[in-house]
Amino acid sequence: MTLHQKPNTLQTDSFWMPFTANRQFKKAPRLFASAEGMHYTTVDGRKVIDGSAGLWCVNAGHGRRQIAAAVERQLMNLDFAPSFNMGHPLAFDFAERLAEIAPKGLDRIFFTNSGSESVDTALKIALAYQRAIGQGTRTRLIGRERGYHGVGFGGMSVGGMVANRRAFATHLPGVDHIRHTHDLARNAFAKDQPEHGAELADDVERMVALHGADTIAAVIVEPVPGSTAVLPPPKGYLQRLRELCTKHGILLIFDEVITGFGRLGAPFAADYFGVTPDMMTTAKGITNGTVPCGAVFASRKIHDALMNGPEGTIELFHGYTYSAHPVACAAGLATLDIYKDEGLLTRGASLAEYWRDALHSLKGLPNVIDIRNVGLMGAIELSPRSDGVGARGYDVMVDCFNRGLYFRMSGDSFAMSPPLIVEKSHIDDMVSILGDAIKRVA
Ligand SMILES: Cc1ncc(COP(=O)(O)O)c(C=O)c1O
Repeated sequence: MTLHQKPNTLQTDSFWMPFTANRQFKKAPRLFASAEGMHYTTVDGRKVIDGSAGLWCVNAGHGRRQIAAAVERQLMNLDFAPSFNMGHPLAFDFAERLAEIAPKGLDRIFFTNSGSESVDTALKIALAYQRAIGQGTRTRLIGRERGYHGVGFGGMSVGGMVANRRAFATHLPGVDHIRHTHDLARNAFAKDQPEHGAELADDVERMVALHGADTIAAVIVEPVPGSTAVLPPPKGYLQRLRELCTKHGILLIFDEVITGFGRLGAPFAADYFGVTPDMMTTAKGITNGTVPCGAVFASRKIHDALMNGPEGTIELFHGYTYSAHPVACAAGLATLDIYKDEGLLTRGASLAEYWRDALHSLKGLPNVIDIRNVGLMGAIELSPRSDGVGARGYDVMVDCFNRGLYFRMSGDSFAMSPPLIVEKSHIDDMVSILGDAIKRVA
């Protein structure tokens, strides 16, 4: 496939696409050929604004030469080194640099290659920790309805997006879910954090009453669910969740795979909301989406509890061939340099108000039933059409793509979350293309 090869010459049979309606897509493929800054270019040479930072991962924008150069240098210098019983200095440097920007106390870093692996790693660490402190009966894992924690068996089981679960009848046993916080009746068109719903955190008490605190190892939530189309937490909700987990000896895990690395205008959602979990899962923006990588940030309490037994004991029988891959570490370090030099981990704060007002200007357009925003995340939700959930959303998404805007859709909602280098003029363009599409198609 050359840069601008026409899509109609493409052989599409062999690639089984992830999270895609394969047959529908292959009839009319939407193909990107290159990217620079805030834009993709399609194979037929059209510029498309990236309204979702790829898949919430290209936080510093596309085509960053500094990362590419670091990757090339690393490949030529040390292409691979094992991290099982061996090491290489970049892994340690990268972990130290991540620890520097971590919320206070969450400075023990376990490397993975994806968000799904980070989630499964954090869940396993939670179980191992409870055993290590003599709480071995705590084996239950609690997720939340509408949560997305990737596609491993652990993440799928604690996840709460129905379609991601129902085709695969086998889930982890001993998992339960608290209720989600999406409440259109009380919170539609709320700006930033909605007023209503903090009391839903009390579901942790219900779990304790039902199962017993001594059976529960951890609660995992996204501070702002992203894949279920951006649900900012009600005011006070995360604080309450923290209090209840602490009260009952339950670990609190924030899945920051989306919210990490500046998406809310603070380095992590934990910073933005002022709530520190016991572990944080990350991926995506950790390398600006360039090289697969993820990391679990664990508290010293958890880490130190597992550093027990004779010194020659392997403390955690867990890891991946590519944990701390040298190329990922090189990409990650170059990414952190860019974030620091350009102030990207906090830049969103200065644009959040403009972003919020721009998105909410779409209120009143046909079939728009909710608009949500927090930091540089946002969503527009449409009412479903009679021909099925997602049909109206799909038509709007295709119309936008044809007119130069890409974003991630989820059912009839559009999740918007641009690279953090976004300028006001890009936000204007995004909202104008989307508004026109809704008027034309919705
Ligand atoms: C909150 C959250 N957790 C986990 C994942 C899974 O990450 P990956 O696709 O890298 O496995 C995602 C992906 O979007 C996510 O949004």
